[in-house]
Amino acid sequence: MKALITAGGHGTRLRPITYTLNKHLIPLANKPLLFYALEKIAETGIKEVFINVNPGEKELPKVVGNGKRWGLKIKYFEQTGGPKGLAHVVKVARPYLKNEPFVFYLGDNIVLGSIKPLVKKFLKEKYNAFITLSKVKDPERFGVPEIKRGRIIKVEEKPKRPKSNFAVTGIYIYQPIVFKILPQLKPSWRGELEISDLHSKMISKGYRIGYEEITGWWKDTGKAEDLLEGNALILENIKNNIQGKLGPRVVVEGKVQIGKGTRISGKTLIRGPVIIGNFSKIKDSYIGPYNSIGNNVEIQSTEIEHSIILNKAKINSFKRKIVDSIIGEEAVVTSAFQTLPSGHKLIIGNNSQVEL
Ligand code: TTP
Repeated sequence: MKALITAGGHGTRLRPITYTLNKHLIPLANKPLLFYALEKIAETGIKEVFINVNPGEKELPKVVGNGKRWGLKIKYFEQTGGPKGLAHVVKVARPYLKNEPFVFYLGDNIVLGSIKPLVKKFLKEKYNAFITLSKVKDPERFGVPEIKRGRIIKVEEKPKRPKSNFAVTGIYIYQPIVFKILPQLKPSWRGELEISDLHSKMISKGYRIGYEEITGWWKDTGKAEDLLEGNALILENIKNNIQGKLGPRVVVEGKVQIGKGTRISGKTLIRGPVIIGNFSKIKDSYIGPYNSIGNNVEIQSTEIEHSIILNKAKINSFKRKIVDSIIGEEAVVTSAFQTLPSGHKLIIGNNSQVEL
């Protein structure tokens, strides 16, 4: 079997971060999002992986590499004409996948458990396609299956009145028969070839679609809130590992990782789960639960919780609390009262969000 992983798309819901960083390279617990997908694929024993990128993408292949570190062989291909839907990704991938079954994995999805049993079930029970489901509070945001007597009879994309409280997650398994169905799909109202339409078409033509519920957790990290929640879920499972230097008045509670060359000083409390990268400096601050702080970050006199701070950011909020935030590379956050006239002085890019 082979694997097809998405790393293209528009990333509009994660702007402005995605103006300069491919969504799949945004770090969760200081590791690029796409690495989680690659780890899951490697666990199944699949070796050959094809990653779809937007035309002209240069950075992602550089960061992810040839796959050796996961025991994988990774090749990249561009989505002809740009992001035109998930079913379009599969269509463009046809020449690479040849005539073999494959896992189709959306690179912005993260799951807790192994996907190996799903692959086993798909092969053993000889399905034409296999989808994974997860119970969600807001199914209207996702592809939603209608299930009757244990069989999926339809899949609707973002329905106003969902027929179940399941979302179809971003992990699918297909037999090459899908390549015969794909040419029959038409673009939806948003101009995309929808993956839900592929599934519905297969059902209407009598093909067998198996499914399994993903228990534990699954997260589609398309929006900022989801990204922060995904980050928190991953941090729940980290182990203690402190390599940096801690001053005498620094208190560390819970599970905390601190990278090499990082210095924590002054009166600082770090309450895990928290991960801090290499060569960062933190002074007189409260670093609360569910923070991922990158490399070369400087934080002073700040209280911060449940946030993702990218490399080289500088923060000094003069004891005011920052929560639920994503702070981009080299961004600077400082107090309004440091310079005159006092007041909020903002230099923020397009599509930024600031709560004062
Ligand atoms: P989505 O999150 O559904 O779409 P998007 O990335 O365009 O984001 P937004 O809605 O915020 O603009 O995409 C799911 C996954 O599929 C993600 O890994 C991006 C990828 N993708 C492609 O590679 N090509 C595409 O044509 C589309 C639509 C998505």
